[in-house]
Amino acid sequence: MMQQTFKAADAANRLLAWYDRHHRDLPWRVSPPMARDGVVADPYHVWLSEVMLQQTTVQAVKPYFHRFLSLWPKVTDLAAADTEEVMKAWAGLGYYARARNLKKCAEAVAGNHQGVFPDTEEGLKALPGIGDYTAAAVAAIAFNRQSAVLDGNVERVISRLHAIETPLPIAKPQMRALVAKMTPADRPGDFAQGMMDLGATICTPKRPACALCPFNDICTALKTADPETYPRKAARKDKPLRVGAAFVASCPEGAIYLRKRVETGLLGGMTEVPGTAWTARLDGETSVEAQPFAAGWEPCGTITHVFTHFELRLSVYRANVANRNKSGNGWWEPLASLEEQALPTVMKKAIAQAIPNAFRGKRAQAREPRNT
Ligand code: ADE
Repeated sequence: MMQQTFKAADAANRLLAWYDRHHRDLPWRVSPPMARDGVVADPYHVWLSEVMLQQTTVQAVKPYFHRFLSLWPKVTDLAAADTEEVMKAWAGLGYYARARNLKKCAEAVAGNHQGVFPDTEEGLKALPGIGDYTAAAVAAIAFNRQSAVLDGNVERVISRLHAIETPLPIAKPQMRALVAKMTPADRPGDFAQGMMDLGATICTPKRPACALCPFNDICTALKTADPETYPRKAARKDKPLRVGAAFVASCPEGAIYLRKRVETGLLGGMTEVPGTAWTARLDGETSVEAQPFAAGWEPCGTITHVFTHFELRLSVYRANVANRNKSGNGWWEPLASLEEQALPTVMKKAIAQAIPNAFRGKRAQAREPRNT
């Protein structure tokens, strides 16, 4: 890291001035003009948005955020909701453990805190599913606490500003300390959101718009190197490949056969089409035991999906069946109500491979992050 040649407080002031002019208007945000009109952030909105925004883009999150608030306007409503309904409303956002934890956290706030979110980082961190990042973000944005908020966008800004050579994730504590030093006592929530907006709109991963950046005359990476090459990252290992088969059965009434996954593990409790286990080898992929019932299964191509720890290639089979066979805990779901099911994106891909117009004309689907 190069020697810092600017004052942290000056940099914070520049950032806040930039945020006042160029902030994004987001549905969960109290922007500076609203704050001037006396509007204060609702901790429930801030928390919900921060959980949704982990690993997911602002554009993808917006329709989900609105839908959650229309279904469950208060944290106590979410606490009282049926978990199955919450999973359905979350379907497509990915990382489904987040939805389960969301529900548990709402229950804890409703049950143990009279429906009021704790207003400190420590108090928030004691709630289910709230880690360092979410606690700091909610404390700063909803309660104006001087918490250092470090997400992917902020990592990029701070690593370029200081030309940090240590690769991620080792550099995180160093980055957090530098953000802490810059975070002002006054307007820490706007500072955090300003850093995120700067990272999202100006200090972008590729082709950053340095000419428009409030830090362009104090940014060490811009002065001495190529900003685009920061943050430095440890070399990534290739993801292993797993393979399997998925069976999409349809009937003349226009329904397809679905079942529920076991509650634990990857995509736990979500809805799926029947299929084989996902294994490292191709053998046995169409195994008769994995078919939900005997039918004229025809291959109709493959789909791939990238999860956090592996890439999945699924061979998709389809069959039209005259009789509505049933096995295990499965059921026949009309195509018209497919969108209301808790179907993760990998399953939507498999169904669309077998029945190309299965989701056409339905509720626009936010894109799930690639690695869920
Ligand atoms: N990404 C995650 N949280 C955010 C926030 N509060 N504002 C802008 N981008 C974000």
